[in-house]
Amino acid sequence: MSIAPRTPTIQSKLPKVGTTIFTVMSALATEKNAVNLGQGFPDFACDPLLVDAVDQAMREGLNQYPPMAGVLPLREAVAGKIEALHGKRYSALDEITITAGATQAILTAILAIVRPGDEVIVLEPCYDSYIPNIELAGGTVVRVPLVPGTFRPDFDKIAAAITPRTRAILVNSPHNPSATIWSADDMRKLEELLAPTDVFLISDEVYEHMVYDGRAHESAARFPGLAARAFVVSSFGKTYHVTGWKVGVVAAPAALTAEFRKVHQFNVFTVNTPVQHGLARYMADAQRYLALPAFYQAKRDLFRAGLQAKTRFQLLPSEGSFFQCVDISAVSDLPEAEFCQWLTTEIGVAAIPLSAFYADNFDQRVVRFCYAKEDATLRTALDRLAKL
Ligand SMILES: Cc1ncc(COP(=O)(O)O)c(C=O)c1O
Repeated sequence: MSIAPRTPTIQSKLPKVGTTIFTVMSALATEKNAVNLGQGFPDFACDPLLVDAVDQAMREGLNQYPPMAGVLPLREAVAGKIEALHGKRYSALDEITITAGATQAILTAILAIVRPGDEVIVLEPCYDSYIPNIELAGGTVVRVPLVPGTFRPDFDKIAAAITPRTRAILVNSPHNPSATIWSADDMRKLEELLAPTDVFLISDEVYEHMVYDGRAHESAARFPGLAARAFVVSSFGKTYHVTGWKVGVVAAPAALTAEFRKVHQFNVFTVNTPVQHGLARYMADAQRYLALPAFYQAKRDLFRAGLQAKTRFQLLPSEGSFFQCVDISAVSDLPEAEFCQWLTTEIGVAAIPLSAFYADNFDQRVVRFCYAKEDATLRTALDRLAKL
């Protein structure tokens, strides 16, 4: 008797999730030989000294499982850096955990704190993993818009969204996709708003070292009322031009870290050992992250000057991150997503529609370019965009 093979059907936990716009636009960019200013990653190499540091760690035999929370030299390097920059001392032993990128850090924090029925506030437009992460944990997503046009937080709207069921709020500064940053005043307002509540803060600070025009990054670590309830998340991939290495970090008070690590332990358990040692040694020279604002600000200025001189796009401010948003109204009547497909196919430059960062695909005629690219790449893109 033959047995008919039978594949059971999965009842999707994420029925609304499909292929992301980043994958779609990158594939289209490759197919059309377009300059890819869509997805947020550098097209230039990292410092060879960082590769040497990882290579050396491998040759020293540092290739087996590290401690679950990350190798101590890297946790100490992070604790030292946060103290030097923000005046807050986290314990390397109990309050810093190394993760497989910021993405895993955020999911792990959400899984650690969110129970079915809990509400979690996201400020839209937001990074695309937040909403599926909350849904996977069984939470209810509460979407609050940043003010369209300026992308500033609307604290009245945030206050109105907080209920007795609110478990957490996700905040991201410098912000992807809008390239705005939160001021100290913004952070203090959030601190005041959350003070009477038990709401956790997940502070996504992956672009912490990309803040321009002499302004400071206002980490949640700087504000005691926020730090006491916060998972502060960053990404070595973004900071050191190695997005493919997928190494991140979360700093949180010991009681929060203890629960975070319970989930982390049975999820990834540990993160690439030689890369952690290499990063720790490389970070010993603070210039390697302190030089980053000047490095990216020069790219921002080159790209903005070109767009201003050559195109009819209206430029939004780029205060931080490595993104530049533009209003396309003067150039095209197409909706954002169609415009980006047309731009990739006909002009040869890929961009991302801001509507991709809203659950309801809200369209405000704004698209995002990434300027973490070689100057030559940016110049080629600008030459092509000059037709507009
Ligand atoms: C706002 C934001 N958070 C998190 C991440 C993910 O960082 P990682 O590559 O370290 O997982 C990104 C990457 O694009 C991002 O833009």
